[in-house]
Amino acid sequence: MDEEIRRLFPVTHNYIYLNHAAVAPLSLPVYERMTAHARDVLESGLVHWREWGEAVERVRELGARLVNAQPEEIAFAPNTSAGLSMIANGIEWRAGDNVVTADCEFPANLIPWRRLERQNGVQVRMAREYEGRLNIDEILGLVNERTRVVSLSFVEFASGFRNDLAAIGSFCREHDVLLVVDAIQGLGALELDVARDHIDAFAADAHKFLLGPEGAALLFLGPRAIERVRPTVVGWMSVKEAFAVNNGIQEYAAGARRFEPGALNTCGVLGLGAAIELLSSVGVGRIESYLIELGDYLCARLEDKGYQVISSRKKGEASSVISCRHPRHSAQSLSQHLEAQRIITTARVGRLRISPHFYNTIEEMDRLIECLP
Ligand SMILES: Cc1ncc(COP(=O)(O)O)c(C=O)c1O
Repeated sequence: MDEEIRRLFPVTHNYIYLNHAAVAPLSLPVYERMTAHARDVLESGLVHWREWGEAVERVRELGARLVNAQPEEIAFAPNTSAGLSMIANGIEWRAGDNVVTADCEFPANLIPWRRLERQNGVQVRMAREYEGRLNIDEILGLVNERTRVVSLSFVEFASGFRNDLAAIGSFCREHDVLLVVDAIQGLGALELDVARDHIDAFAADAHKFLLGPEGAALLFLGPRAIERVRPTVVGWMSVKEAFAVNNGIQEYAAGARRFEPGALNTCGVLGLGAAIELLSSVGVGRIESYLIELGDYLCARLEDKGYQVISSRKKGEASSVISCRHPRHSAQSLSQHLEAQRIITTARVGRLRISPHFYNTIEEMDRLIECLP
C-alpha cells in the first residue's frame, strides 16, 4: 500500500502495530472527525443537532453500502455484544428450540445464546474447532427441525478461520433458519456481502478491522430478521415519531432503527463514518487481496522459523488474523518479548495472535520474524 496511506496512521511512528483483532489505532481522518464533533459540542452544545443527525444518516448509508445492505437495515449499537444479545433475546423461543454455533466463538457470541438455555429451555449446539478449523459439514449436520438460528463469526477470533458464510447462508435459507454473524473480526479487512451470503443479521463494533473507535457498532437486520426479532431494548427513539415525545403506545420505527432505544454515540458513529470512507477509498476488495498476500508471506516465514501456524491459509479460509505457536516459548512470553521491541501482538488461548491491517508492510513482517526467538 502507498506511503500516503501509512502517513494517516501516526501509530506507525511508535510501534509495529499488529493487533487489529484486539483494538485498532485511530487514523488521522477518524481522529479529526471525532475531535471536530467534540469541539462542536464544546463550543455550541446541541445547536447543530440537525447537522449531526444528517451526518449520522450518511454513516448509515456508508455502513449499508459497505456490506451491500439498505440503510434502513442498519442500526447503530453500543457494541457487538449488545447487538447479538438484542437479536438472541428478541426471538420468540419455544422450549426445545436450538441454536447452532461453535465452541471456538468469542463469548460475545456465546453468552447471549447460553442465557437462553437457562431462561427458555433453548439448546445450544456447538460445532468443535479442530486444528484451527471448523468443519462446515459438522456445523450443518447440527441443524435439525428445531433449529431457529445458526450464529457464527465471520472470522474466528483465536484461529483466524474464515467461515464459508455463503454456503452456510444458502443452507440456512433452504431450511428456514436465521443466519446471525458476529462480523467484528473480518469487517473492514474482508469483503462482506449480506445479500450474496444470505446473512440475516450481523453485529460488528468499529474498533477492530473497521479502524473506528470503540462503542459504535453496526447492527444489520435484513427482512427475515426484522420479521422474527422483536425489539426488547426499547426507548423514545425506537418508535416511528420519536420527536412527538408521546407516551401512548406507538408503532416501532421501520426497519433496524427500532433497535436504537435512545441517544446515539454520535461522536463514535461519526468516527466510524470517517473510517468507512477511508476503507472504501482504497476498496475493501483491494485491502483483502493485500492482507491475504501479506498473511501468506508472514505464515511462510513463521514456519521457516520453526513456528506452527494454526490459521488455515486455504483459499476462502484465510483472514488477517494469524495464530501460531512455538514448541517451547509460551504465547504470553512471545507477545511480551515483542512488545519490549515495540511490536504489538497478543496472546489468545495459548496462541500468539498477529493481526495486520492494510497500512502494515512486508518490511514490518520481516522485522517481526527477526525479533522472534
Ligand atoms: C469475535 C469477537 N466478537 C466480539 C468481540 C468484542 O465484542 P464487543 O464489541 O461487544 O466488545 C471480540 C473481541 O473483543 C471478538 O473477537
